[in-house]
Amino acid sequence: MSNIKVLDKEFEPYLSEELIQTKIAELAAQFNKEYEGKRPIFLSILNGSFLFTADLFKQITIEAEVCFIKLASYKGTTSSGNVITAIGLDANVSGRDIIILEDIIDTGKTLHHFLPQLASSQPNSIKIAVLLNKTEALAYPVKVDYACFDIPNKFVVGYGLDYDGYGRNTKAIYQLK
Ligand code: IMP
Ligand code: MG
Repeated sequence: MSNIKVLDKEFEPYLSEELIQTKIAELAAQFNKEYEGKRPIFLSILNGSFLFTADLFKQITIEAEVCFIKLASYKGTTSSGNVITAIGLDANVSGRDIIILEDIIDTGKTLHHFLPQLASSQPNSIKIAVLLNKTEALAYPVKVDYACFDIPNKFVVGYGLDYDGYGRNTKAIYQLK
């Protein structure tokens, strides 16, 4: 695999397509066991999680729903901006088992602000599943229940993740050189 350029920055290969797909298959298998008969709702946070969600959901064999919502904007290479109200949360989550799907958890700010709002709709359970867990960057008390990868505090793009809106359309994940 070779380096890619996104806007003004160069990125080098970090997680291969094969590795990503292996981890997602493992996670799907785990959900298929743990949520059997529970009819969970996968709550996917747009935009970054759309590929992760699609690849995971294809491998969910139990009865489950998927719902896409939009929460926050993310600009540049550090976490910033204000969390906006959840758009598109049309499912009735009361009494349901919710699995939040996030592309990456960085400071935890986004989910920290959203969780109380979601909890106020009284779901039966809320779990958080992330593709990438930037463990060192966590600055808010958010508990990640499932993570495909723990990664260091380095900016990454690809497989749904963007740099200023670009770089989402790759099968592998790349890190800033
Ligand atoms: P948090 O609120 O600080 O946890 O940031 C979460 C959001 O920031 C993610 O959903 C991403 O959209 C974005 N983000 C954080 N780190 C990165 C990164 O390394 N690359 C691309 N987006 C990132
Ligand atoms: Mg995101």
